[in-house]
Amino acid sequence: MRTNQPQTIYLSEYRVPAYLVDTVDLRFELFEDGARVHSTLAIRRNPESEEGAVPLELDGDSLVLESVALNGQDLAAGEFEDRGDKLIVASVPEKFELSVVTWIEPQNNTRLEGLYKSSGMFCTQCEAEGFRCITFFPDRPDVMARYKTRVEADKSAYPVLLSNGNPIESGDLDDGRHFVTWEDPFPKPCYLFALVAGDLVEKRDTFTTCSGRDIDLRMYVEPRNAEKCDHAMDSLKRSMRWDEDVYGREYDLDIFMIVAVDDFNMGAMENKGLNIFNSSCVLASKETATDAAFQRIEAIVAHEYFHNWSGNRVTCRDWFQLSLKEGFTVLRDSQFSADMGSDTVKRIEDATLMRTAQFAEDAGPMSHPIRPSSYIEISNFYTLTIYEKGAEVVRMIRTLLGPELFRKGSDLYFERHDGQAVTTDDFVKAMEDASGRDLSQFRLWYEQAGTPVLEVTDQFDQGQGVYRLTIRQSIPDTPGQADKKPQHIPFALGLLDEHGKALPLRLSVDEQDAPTERVLELTDAEHVFEFHGLTEKPVPSLLRHFSAPVRVHYPWTREQLLFLISHDPDGFNRWDAGQRLAVDIIQSLVGQPKDTPVDPRLVTAYRHLISDSALDQALVDKMLQLPSEAYLVELASDADVPAIHAARERVLKHLAIALRDDLVACYRRNAGDGDYAVTPEQVARRSLRNTALAWLLMINDEEGRELALRQFREADNMTDRMGALRALVNSEYEADRDQVLGDFYQRFQADPQVVEQWFSVQAASSVAGRLGKIHDLLAHDAFDWRNPNKVRSVVGAFAGQNLSGFHAEDGSGYEFLADQVCRLDDINPQIAARLVTPLARWRKFAPAYRGKMKAALETVRDKSGLSKDVYEVVHKSLV
Ligand code: PHE
Ligand code: ZN
Repeated sequence: MRTNQPQTIYLSEYRVPAYLVDTVDLRFELFEDGARVHSTLAIRRNPESEEGAVPLELDGDSLVLESVALNGQDLAAGEFEDRGDKLIVASVPEKFELSVVTWIEPQNNTRLEGLYKSSGMFCTQCEAEGFRCITFFPDRPDVMARYKTRVEADKSAYPVLLSNGNPIESGDLDDGRHFVTWEDPFPKPCYLFALVAGDLVEKRDTFTTCSGRDIDLRMYVEPRNAEKCDHAMDSLKRSMRWDEDVYGREYDLDIFMIVAVDDFNMGAMENKGLNIFNSSCVLASKETATDAAFQRIEAIVAHEYFHNWSGNRVTCRDWFQLSLKEGFTVLRDSQFSADMGSDTVKRIEDATLMRTAQFAEDAGPMSHPIRPSSYIEISNFYTLTIYEKGAEVVRMIRTLLGPELFRKGSDLYFERHDGQAVTTDDFVKAMEDASGRDLSQFRLWYEQAGTPVLEVTDQFDQGQGVYRLTIRQSIPDTPGQADKKPQHIPFALGLLDEHGKALPLRLSVDEQDAPTERVLELTDAEHVFEFHGLTEKPVPSLLRHFSAPVRVHYPWTREQLLFLISHDPDGFNRWDAGQRLAVDIIQSLVGQPKDTPVDPRLVTAYRHLISDSALDQALVDKMLQLPSEAYLVELASDADVPAIHAARERVLKHLAIALRDDLVACYRRNAGDGDYAVTPEQVARRSLRNTALAWLLMINDEEGRELALRQFREADNMTDRMGALRALVNSEYEADRDQVLGDFYQRFQADPQVVEQWFSVQAASSVAGRLGKIHDLLAHDAFDWRNPNKVRSVVGAFAGQNLSGFHAEDGSGYEFLADQVCRLDDINPQIAARLVTPLARWRKFAPAYRGKMKAALETVRDKSGLSKDVYEVVHKSLV
């Protein structure tokens, strides 16, 4: 058990820095047994600080201090104090130069924060607080400085030496070593610092900006990945053009670099001019990456690129403001993806992620507002709430202001705060100032946690021709927050007549030319809206496009939902109606006898969808996906996962049996698509045929099995090969399953990104991923505890996707996860803290499961030397 209690950091205790750093001069000597870091900082007292001549305090973590000098004079032992996590110099002048030499061991750094080694190369990760693992520094984002970085290493092992900005000098040194010096003209916080040294191949391209400047684009990857760069490079160029067109943002440096590394805690990192990516989020070829991976890569490349303005040029004052850069940037990348593909499909994907995972987070023990007011470990706050809900909040501002005023607001924000470290409030203020709108109540979205619930009821007054919609708003209590105030919610809706015609929404009797869709603004706990001039009770289409991240409760009848599935002019709400219907039907079967009939209307609706080739096939593909187990669990209280799993599977099999011939026809209609391209049409075709395969195999269909085996053998792309593999892995054809898994591994074993997919398709499978199998995967040669992708692809996939395996009645899944979390905590606490999340939600589950989950969590709590990352999650979930 840990003896010292980790400290909580509070937003209310924010103080401006006592000292500022103007320039940072770094020299890295990289060796196999460690690295020496020479740092010279030009420091001065902050005129805005009231603290005066206080001691200088620099942050540090796992550093061996070799020397400290002030204005060129070595400090004697009594003149500074090295406390490990702080270097304190008691007495400093108003303005001075501090030189510090530290020794670090990148080769032993398994936390992957600071400077570390990944398959032979050196690389860095400094967000949020990794720079302090490199040298002593005021490690906070409101200290912005200009960096000059000299990197020295063995020339044959590390021919490529990179850092932020532009290369200004290079040359050879003694003993086969060489150096390159980089200079970044833009002041930046230290979390955006980056360094890379390795034996990498370079891919080049150029981009001409709107003002006619030629930007040198470079990707650096290991030689075996040389052929997997094109998609990321194309995505980068599209992102650069889009940010100019849509947000008026031009790139600023002359070079933009992307590096791929295999060992990385997150997806990617927006270091100034030198983005570092997890290999799985940047490398792709059609043979090795699925359509989903191609789309994810495009989105992440865009996301990191967009940070150059929303994050780097304008950065965060402190880490409580994280959503300032992340929420806004996620909104920007999601707008970009929508523009590159289908708006409706992207909205469906975003809403699904919100409703499945963010709502769950918001209802769990780690629930926090998009601007938290305290934390123990900031790494735990890179959450769906900060990112995805943060994006939804900025999207709502856009909805309230309209696209033009929103753009005016973003222009003002960038202009007003360029080069500054600011707050979410500064962002909202810029939006207010540019639009003249009052967003004071809207600001509650930044302060209050929890998902608002809207209870909607309606009533039709035949005599007056008035339809009355009553909307009540409430926000559930969350840890540390009760009795919340109503929030300002944009609520988009339409009304349909019995033929599916969109009715004009007249808010007064005499309103002329009323629109057929409106965004109502909810500000009070209860509103009554009256719609005039109607002759019959309409069917409401509520919260169109998911116009706010809220839950809507309305007493839908199945008839109404069926009607909306085929008639709603809004594609998003057609999909939503389908989901609600399927949820209602599955929920009604949970815990019921096996022979309880499935509502035949679901079959009819699905038959229409599958066979209607006039409909947008991308939308059809989305509509065919049944609500996931995770979503059904989120909607349940006292969730009984095996019962939910059984009910869902029952509906799936029922549909597959009833629609067997339609599925075969769907498969054949969508087979083959010419030259592989990731277009919305092709993606939909591939997804539809793979859905058809999966369903056919669920019911042991022989023809389906043959189609799957042939597709597996003949596929020329990973989407099809993986589609067939997944269908077989989740089937009862055990011999086929072992055969294709073996073949697949043989073919791709040299490619880590594919091996990760091979791990996760097994671990995520309720059929193939029994606990014994999971242990085998952990013992596999290709598994590596120090590689986060491998850990996620086995342990993460098991606990996060194979829900019925994880929630095995005997509690073995829980004990397993607790063991792995304890083991990982000593290697990589950030990853351990993320993995423990499924256990931390123990209160959500039926009593028979809850107790066992809690017990497993307590074993984690009692581990000796627990990291503060895991400590925070475990303790907050046990209080
Ligand atoms: N800032 C990165 C991104 O969103 C995420 C990240 C956080 C990466 C922390 C590494 C460490 O784009
Ligand atoms: Zn980001």
